[in-house]
Amino acid sequence: MEGKDFMSKILNQFLDENLEGLRSKGMYNEIDPVDGANGPMINIKGKKLVNLSSNNYLGLATDEELKSLAKDAVDSHGVGAGAVRTINGTLDLHVKLEEKIAQFKGTEAAISFQSGFNCNMAAIQAVMNKEDAILSDSLNHASIIDGCRLSRAKIIPFEHSNMEDLRAKAKEAVESGKYKKVMVITDGVFSMDGDIAKLPEIVEIAEEFDLITYVDDAHGSGVLGKGAGTVKHFGLQDKIDFQMGTLSKAIGVIGGYVAGSQKLIDWLKVSSRPFLFSTAVTPADAVAATEAIDRLMKSTDLLDQLWENGDYLKKGLKDLGFDIGESETPITPCIIGDEKAAQEFSARLFEEGVYAKSIVFPTVPRGTARVRNMPTAAHTKEMLDQALAIYEKVGKEMNII
Ligand SMILES: Cc1ncc(COP(=O)(O)O)c(C=O)c1O
Repeated sequence: MEGKDFMSKILNQFLDENLEGLRSKGMYNEIDPVDGANGPMINIKGKKLVNLSSNNYLGLATDEELKSLAKDAVDSHGVGAGAVRTINGTLDLHVKLEEKIAQFKGTEAAISFQSGFNCNMAAIQAVMNKEDAILSDSLNHASIIDGCRLSRAKIIPFEHSNMEDLRAKAKEAVESGKYKKVMVITDGVFSMDGDIAKLPEIVEIAEEFDLITYVDDAHGSGVLGKGAGTVKHFGLQDKIDFQMGTLSKAIGVIGGYVAGSQKLIDWLKVSSRPFLFSTAVTPADAVAATEAIDRLMKSTDLLDQLWENGDYLKKGLKDLGFDIGESETPITPCIIGDEKAAQEFSARLFEEGVYAKSIVFPTVPRGTARVRNMPTAAHTKEMLDQALAIYEKVGKEMNII
C-alpha cells in the first residue's frame, strides 16, 4: 500500500532514495535465512555450506553439554529473568555468571549486560560526560563509537594503532586543561582485520597522562591469553580499568560484561542505564555462559584447535595468492577492494559451497571491501580443504588470484 494513509510522504521518499542509493552501489546487505543451527556447516536456501562467517570461535554455540544445562535452567528458573535486576532482585545465576567472569578476567568484580553492544552503551556513559574527552582508535567497533557519542564527551579519534598519534593527542587533550577526565578506548582485537591493539604502549601513554583505559575485547576473549583475552595476553590485568567483553562470540551465548575493580562495578550497578532499565539475559543464557567460561578456564583444547584451524586456512589462502592483510589472530580477511567485486565474490563462493560474507563500508573503510573468514575450533580439515578448493576456483575465475 502506498500514500499518506500508510506512510508519511517524506518518510517514503527518504526510504526510496536511501535504499536505492545503497542497492545501486552494491552496498545493500541482504540478510540470509538460516535453517537450523549456526555450526561449522550451515544450511541456507537449500544449500549446505562451509560456514566461515560466524564468530562462534570455539563452536560452543551448539555444544551438547551447554544445551543440556540451558534446558535444565529453563526447568529450574523459567524462560525469562522477569524484570530488571534493580526492581526484582538478581537471580543467583546472574551472580554466579559475574563471579565467573571476574575469575576468568583476573579482576575483583564484574557486571553483565544483555549484549556486548548494550554494554558499550552502558559503561562508557556511566563514567564519561560532556566535560570529558575520549581518545578512540579510528577502527573501533560501531558500539564503541555509539557508546562514546551517548556520553556526550568530546571524541578525539586517533589513527588506527598509531601510538605517536595517540600520544600527541593525549598530551594535547590533557595539557589543554579543557577536560576533567580523558579516556583511551580501543578494541583488543580488530574484528575486520584480526590485528591486536598495542596495549603495552597504550598503557604506557595512559600512565604518563593519567588516562582511563577501556578495552573492548569482544574478539580477544576466548582467543588470546589462554582464553582470558588480550589484556591477559600482554599480562596487563592490573593496568586496564575496563575489560569489556561479549558472551556472544567465543563464549557462544549472548550478553556482555565489564570486569574491573569492585569500586568500578559498584558504580556501574547504580549508574549504567541499560543495567537499570532493561531486563538481564535469560536463566538459560546465564548458565550456558557460566559453563562455557568454566570450560575455557579448565582447558585450552578448543583454543588450540581454533588456532590450528586458523593457521591452516590462512596459509592455504595466502599460498593461493589472496591478500589476507596483517591478521595476527584466526580472523582471516580476503581483501578485494572494490565493494561490488567483493559482493560478487561472496555470491560466487556461496554458489559453490562456502558461506563467507562480504564486508563493505561503513563496516570497513571505503575501497577496502573484503570477504571475512572465520575458521572455528569446530571445523574439520576436510571442511577447510573444501573451502580452499572453492576459493581457488572462484578466485581464478574472477582474476583475483
Ligand atoms: C568489538 C565489538 N564490540 C562489541 C560487539 C557487540 O557484541 P554483541 O554481539 O554481544 O552485542 C561486537 C560485535 O560484533 C564487536 O565486534
